[in-house]
Amino acid sequence: MERVIIFDTTLRDGEQAPGATLNLDEKLEIARQLEKLGVDVIEAGFPIASSGDFEAVCLIAKEVRKPIICALAHANAEAVDRAWEAIKEAKRARIHVFLSSSDIHLTYQLKMGQAEILELACEMVARAKKCLEDVEFSPMDATRTTPQFIYQIIEAVIEAGATTVNIPDTVGYTTPEEFSRLIRGIFEHVPNIHKAVVSVHCHDDLGLAVANSLTALACGARQVECTINGIGERAGNASLEEIVMALRTRKDSFDLTTSIDTAQIYKTSRLVSELTGFSIPPNKAIVGANAFRHEAGIHQDGIIKEPITYEIMDARSIGLPSSALVLGKHSGRHALKARLEELGYTLSEEDLDRAFSAFKALADKKKEVTDRDLESLVAEEMRTISEAYHLEQVQVSCGDRSVPTAAVRLITSDGEVLADAALGTGPVDAVYRAINRLVGVPNVLTEFSVKAITEGIDAIGEVTIRIESEGRVYTGRGAATDIIVASAKAYMNALNRLLAVKGKE
Ligand code: KIV
Ligand code: ZN
Repeated sequence: MERVIIFDTTLRDGEQAPGATLNLDEKLEIARQLEKLGVDVIEAGFPIASSGDFEAVCLIAKEVRKPIICALAHANAEAVDRAWEAIKEAKRARIHVFLSSSDIHLTYQLKMGQAEILELACEMVARAKKCLEDVEFSPMDATRTTPQFIYQIIEAVIEAGATTVNIPDTVGYTTPEEFSRLIRGIFEHVPNIHKAVVSVHCHDDLGLAVANSLTALACGARQVECTINGIGERAGNASLEEIVMALRTRKDSFDLTTSIDTAQIYKTSRLVSELTGFSIPPNKAIVGANAFRHEAGIHQDGIIKEPITYEIMDARSIGLPSSALVLGKHSGRHALKARLEELGYTLSEEDLDRAFSAFKALADKKKEVTDRDLESLVAEEMRTISEAYHLEQVQVSCGDRSVPTAAVRLITSDGEVLADAALGTGPVDAVYRAINRLVGVPNVLTEFSVKAITEGIDAIGEVTIRIESEGRVYTGRGAATDIIVASAKAYMNALNRLLAVKGKE
């Protein structure tokens, strides 16, 4: 069976999604998990775009040694040099150069002709090639470019040294039938195509990213660019988990394999959702909460008799934990450790101690602590690492006859204790106003949502918020059995992200 190269761009295209801003530690944590998942290439960022991106790519290149670490550069000498600077310490490095090719982009955006594009593309590929062997080129907006020009530009960049040629459906415009014609055309009309790997990069504006990617693979493409949970610009990119599980489940049809350890999919998906603050819709294929649940009586009856009746994949194949063991207030440190390991978390002794006290506090409030509670608890502990301000205490008084009042106490990273109080239109408003008096960073709350993680009145409530400051969106999440406390934690989480970004500027 031939192997498909899995090129993950969660940390680059995925992070371009508004509100998905990740800090340095979070990017490294995702990169390490992608390595465990077994991706072949990690596109770690766009180094010329910001110092934060540059720093993250450098760090990932130094720390994550198994996959190829790729840096993106637009067709500009400074961008290519900066990309090389960022990845030069990687064990295996790649530079990915892109330049628009469609008439629409050439006329309205670049104001350049095809001849100039051809020359610039080759010049930049050759520049990257002087630094390293592994160079990828993408003609941006390829699916709205005349195929003849795509053939021409691909032939030229391969000649200049490109080892991978990537065909992006930048605006998610193509259809499987049309895309298959383009990919087949490339194999037919580009004489030196055997010297490069053909890759595809599809966006999901029409909900066709996975279908288009799979079609391209069936037509001979051997690299697919994708993201965890399908996050990315606008409607997102093709989802890694859907592509990988489609190839695996329909081996009979594709006859292609990947190096992905599918048992790591669930954990990777949860991690990316947690750190970006993008929840996974319950009906999302592969990783949605309902993806392996059967509600209809007739289906349940079939499943009990023989799972194959209604199940095309085994939930365990994506690492979905089967929760036989129920933890509660009598469970010990060992039971917690074992359960966390089954869920894919290997904690240091110190982190386990913290997780255990948080678990005990939760088990006092909740009869049964479920896997989802544990995941939320571990995530909560992770969130408190490297905070500029830590929420120490929050107290609220509210009701239909009183003015909502909140008092908060914060501790700064230097150990200073700050306290203040405020009135608000509701309890959350009062808490946010009290925090604002202490932190003093102007921002606008643009989104606020609360959801119960588990069933029952004692469920943990998870609050996700987005705030906007100087044109950037920051996500925050917080979880607690008290939703006012969860709201305060979410706000602190978003503010700490904002302050971390500002601190780097
Ligand atoms: O969608 C796109 O065209 C891209 C390129 C940079 C490959 O993300
Ligand atoms: Zn893209």
